[in-house]
Amino acid sequence: MTAAPSAALEFDPYAYEVHEDPFPIYRRLRDEAPAYWNESLRFWALSRHADVLAAFKDHARFSSRFGVSIDAGTFHENASATMSFLAMDPPRHDRLRALVSKGFTPRRVAELEPRVRAIAVEYLDELADRDGCDFIRDFAGKLPMDVISEMLGVPKADRAMLRGWADDMVHRDEGVTEMPQAAVEGGLRALNYFSEMLRERHKSPGTDLTGALVTAEIDGDRLSDREIIGFLILMVVAGNETTTKLLGNALYWLWRNPGERDRLRADASLLPRWVEETLRYDNSTQALARVMATDVELHGAKLRAGDKVVLLLGAGNRDERAFPDPDRFDLLRDTSAMLSFGQGIHFCLGASLARLEGRIALEETWKRFPRYEIDPSGIARVHSVNVRGFAALPISLGKRS
Ligand code: HEM
Repeated sequence: MTAAPSAALEFDPYAYEVHEDPFPIYRRLRDEAPAYWNESLRFWALSRHADVLAAFKDHARFSSRFGVSIDAGTFHENASATMSFLAMDPPRHDRLRALVSKGFTPRRVAELEPRVRAIAVEYLDELADRDGCDFIRDFAGKLPMDVISEMLGVPKADRAMLRGWADDMVHRDEGVTEMPQAAVEGGLRALNYFSEMLRERHKSPGTDLTGALVTAEIDGDRLSDREIIGFLILMVVAGNETTTKLLGNALYWLWRNPGERDRLRADASLLPRWVEETLRYDNSTQALARVMATDVELHGAKLRAGDKVVLLLGAGNRDERAFPDPDRFDLLRDTSAMLSFGQGIHFCLGASLARLEGRIALEETWKRFPRYEIDPSGIARVHSVNVRGFAALPISLGKRS
């Protein structure tokens, strides 16, 4: 158990209050219980930057084989069915990751820039005659889905439906640790959708990433349909939800920090810093689970083989031991130590793509609507134990001052 946990300290990742503002409780965890044990939900939480970083790098002891969500419904041996190599340790992880990583090299990603920009411009131009919009519904939710879909070959007509299932898969009801029925159904629907798509692709593979996976061979060995489907679902959830939330969080925090907004107005070359500081300050991925492969002692606590551990990267990103004045949103700060894309063998495969999408989406938005304002009364949050961001973010486009 923990060294000396304060009796009043309770961290419930399912509480909507925590989703609203997790940062005060993160601070208490870092200061009072850096190896925190939640008895009722039976998980450990690590919150200090150095501990989260070390655990990310130590995949032999902090295993991913039960997946990365703390939900009892998904934290098990079969997690890789829908999370692919995100929920695997070496050597299985490395074999699959090596196969798909060709599609994500910095060069391949840079080649996507004109297409990403064209998609962003198309959606933003549709808003030109309007006074306001829901930034998530009308833009941030659409762009990443289109980019992934084009990479995987998902037809335009099916994208909104797939995104709806991905949203269902991450939503959690207040105070309920079980997966809601809609989340289970969302997963099954995505599974059926992709198995149908693969049936077609075996007849005619195509030239996109899905086609490449259908025909890929490693030492004469082909990927099974199950492996490919797991990867396709991972792409839709990992690549889509996170980037949508990044864009919404970026708009929100710049609006909440008028001084930083003035800074960006004065110097547009700071725009990539807007992406980076948002990733650090309020990352769309706040928490990732691991299962202990061996016993480990940390801060006087004994984490035992088989225990569930939550790595709070969102808390590590606000640790004053790593970032001076961490609760200040500051476009000029050094963010290079951020934990937002993980570290080690599971380091986000889509990090360059997410940064590219973030930069282009915000550049095109800022160019058109630098006087945007947020209507706080219409904001709605996503409720999930892993993902943090907005389900709705109503903005006025500020064209008429
Ligand atoms: C702001 C956007 C994003 C954030 C914050 C983010 C965050 C992360 C993090 C923290 C991990 C490490 C997971 C772990 O250690 O268990 C990860 C892994 C991963 N991400 Fe991302 N991600 C983003 C966007 C994307 C995009 C756009 C894609 C793909 C199109 C993607 C694909 C993946 C994949 C495939 C993995 C698994 C890597 C592995 O297990 O080896 N991500 N991501």
